[in-house]
Amino acid sequence: MDSSYSSSSICCIVIVSILLLDSLLVCNGGKTSIYVRKAEKTVEMPLHSDVFRIPAGYNAPQQVHITQGDHEGKAVIVSWVTPDEPGSNTVVYWSEENCEAKKKAVGKVYTYKFYNYTSGFIHHCTIRNLEYDTKYYYVVGDRKLMRKFWFTTPPAVGPDVPYTFGIIGDLGQTYDSNITLTHYERNPKNGQAVLFVGDLSYADNHPNHDNVRWDTWARFVERSVAYQPWIWTAGNHEIDFAPEIGETKPFKPYTRRYHVPYRASQSTASFWYSIKRASAYIIVLSSYSAYGKYTPQYQWLEQELPKVNRSETPWLIVLMHSPWYNSYNYHYMEGETMRVMYEPWFVEHKVDIVLAGHVHAYERSERISNIAYNIENGKCRPVKDQSAPIYITIGDGGNIEGLANDMTEPQPEYSAYREASFGHAIFDIKNRTHARYSWHRNHDGYAVEADSMWFFNRFWHPVDESSQ
Ligand SMILES: [Fe+2]
Repeated sequence: MDSSYSSSSICCIVIVSILLLDSLLVCNGGKTSIYVRKAEKTVEMPLHSDVFRIPAGYNAPQQVHITQGDHEGKAVIVSWVTPDEPGSNTVVYWSEENCEAKKKAVGKVYTYKFYNYTSGFIHHCTIRNLEYDTKYYYVVGDRKLMRKFWFTTPPAVGPDVPYTFGIIGDLGQTYDSNITLTHYERNPKNGQAVLFVGDLSYADNHPNHDNVRWDTWARFVERSVAYQPWIWTAGNHEIDFAPEIGETKPFKPYTRRYHVPYRASQSTASFWYSIKRASAYIIVLSSYSAYGKYTPQYQWLEQELPKVNRSETPWLIVLMHSPWYNSYNYHYMEGETMRVMYEPWFVEHKVDIVLAGHVHAYERSERISNIAYNIENGKCRPVKDQSAPIYITIGDGGNIEGLANDMTEPQPEYSAYREASFGHAIFDIKNRTHARYSWHRNHDGYAVEADSMWFFNRFWHPVDESSQ
């Protein structure tokens, strides 16, 4: 009896050891989180939800949103919609310190049609020559009905200026989207601006791309984006290309509704542009505009990267929608052609971090590059590279299409951490050498960091962070 017990125990130990050894050998990548989110359907919030409420009163301004309005952070684009008539084009604004000195800026108003939908009156007004690091109040609307908001301008551009960015992607307008936004708002790290990596409203998932869902989305996020700028990136759900209903001009609703300061960085289209903000230089790219050699985006980026002065803005951040490094079985390798075109430049210019969405999950890469390959040498695997960026996929805002939870196995070596949960991230720049990065899962308390690391700046402190 004793001997048969001990032989079966030994057998068990051997099997477990083989399994463990096997898992160690197979799992040669980073960490796949053991946290598995309960499978639930993501459900869009109904039209009568309180977050979509139309402000009371005739022609009341709604869908108020702001973004940076110039290259340095001294201007703000204020946008809003009036439903019944154009109303006033003017934004009245004043600084907290000098509320007697009220100023005015005059904007423009646009409308558009999309199949059987006609938009409200979409206003865009750029306020210029603001003081840095100053709280401003602003009012939109006219005497009959005004609405007042506020924002704080960033500190003057400089190498050691602390600044905290929120990072959100693929948000949509489901109950989960609402939880993501609430988590961001209540995160004690207090993001000062949002880097939004594309896919806003998901209106195109509705019959005839029902543009009413562009309106509801803008009312939903107003509670954040009327008070701090969101930096916009175009995703595939912004294309709204629908020839079957006669809508053949790509990006029509997005470009009418979301203006960005692309001309300030000598860009010729709103889909790719750059801004400086505090100690960061942010380059926005378009996964859905031509990026091959000789194209406008290619030429612009080729000239743009050498302009970045890391003594002025040490942190070089790139936003795009479709990720280059993605180990989920969704949108697999969709970013590959753009990676092949631009990755050597990112390594040459020592980009710190690349943020993308599209895949509805979370993933963080190692510092890796895959630029040695030519069609003869066979060197086609990503390798550790301390001049390369870290790639973050953060398309986990909570949209109607649900979570991406099917991963390629084994986890590739380039993938440091991956998890299929909704959430947002924070990039908290401390000075020219250090930034605290954290990803926050919706299921956790507001202060919990589900994944985090210290970023060491690639120009000023290019030390391997994995040694920390
Ligand atoms: Fe997408």
